[in-house]
Amino acid sequence: MNHFLSVNEVANLHELVNTALEYKADPFKDATLGMRKRLGMLFLNPSMRTRISTQIAAKNLGMDAIVFNVGQDGWTLEFEDDAIMSGTTVEHVKEAAPVLGKYFDILGVRTFPSLKNKEDDYSELYIHQFIKYAGVPILSLESATLHPLQSLTDLITIQEVFKEKRKPKIVLTWAPHVKALPQCVANSFSQWITAWGKADFIITHPEDYELERKFTKGATITHNQDEALKDADFVYVKNWSTYHDYGKMYCNDPKWMLTNKKLTTTNNAKVMHCLPVRRNVELSDEILDGSNSLVTQQAGNRVWAAQAVLAELLKSK
Ligand code: CP
Repeated sequence: MNHFLSVNEVANLHELVNTALEYKADPFKDATLGMRKRLGMLFLNPSMRTRISTQIAAKNLGMDAIVFNVGQDGWTLEFEDDAIMSGTTVEHVKEAAPVLGKYFDILGVRTFPSLKNKEDDYSELYIHQFIKYAGVPILSLESATLHPLQSLTDLITIQEVFKEKRKPKIVLTWAPHVKALPQCVANSFSQWITAWGKADFIITHPEDYELERKFTKGATITHNQDEALKDADFVYVKNWSTYHDYGKMYCNDPKWMLTNKKLTTTNNAKVMHCLPVRRNVELSDEILDGSNSLVTQQAGNRVWAAQAVLAELLKSK
């Protein structure tokens, strides 16, 4: 694995999930693998789970991790080629990335989409500029369109919880929100679950919230949430803004929020969310505080996902 941006860089998904679960059972089994190596973690937007879990994962492997908040701690970066930098950006990625490549053995980058220009966001300009100019492996800590460490965590959690021989029914449902959010988590979850190939996978959302087809290929898609939820083993809840008429909020019907009543037609489904979550907007108190919620277990598993991926990157260097 030279870089980690999506499931496409994973040679063996089942092995990666198993490695993560092995780290969960024995966090320090590779405690010297990253000795005398440094991980840089660049954040262009806020984070709690990704930031802390990846630092712990690096530490478990004997690596040093240094966090840098671009824009707050340092200079505002420019990413466009041929930019005339007479505005607010102070340093070009063409200088910043190779400098960081001298300091770090692996560089983690967390970006966000603009939600204004679909072509720019879906070209993943920021992360690709780091790949082009840093000269070291790039680890996505969430990009404009995908959140691979989150999705690996989600898969680890599903595998950990579901012990039956049959395929689980997994439902990804859109939920209301107060503002337009990226499609990253939904795109990425769809991509990883379909690549895993061991689930009946249904996506449900109101009209106009169709995701980019390349991520959802293989999933059944319906606008009928009640129908989708029937017999579900897992319900993954997430808001996202529109993809086609990009970055908008159309329907924001509170009836789409998951409640215990809606869970009654499921197979006592476990409920997942990447967090942070807006209580009683995106997910009800009764679900989050109830025994079906996996959100804390999921967030805890972020450590093992990051550790498994860092180990792969270190072994490939
Ligand atoms: N799920 C997730 O990425 O959380 P943070 O934004 O807190 O890192």
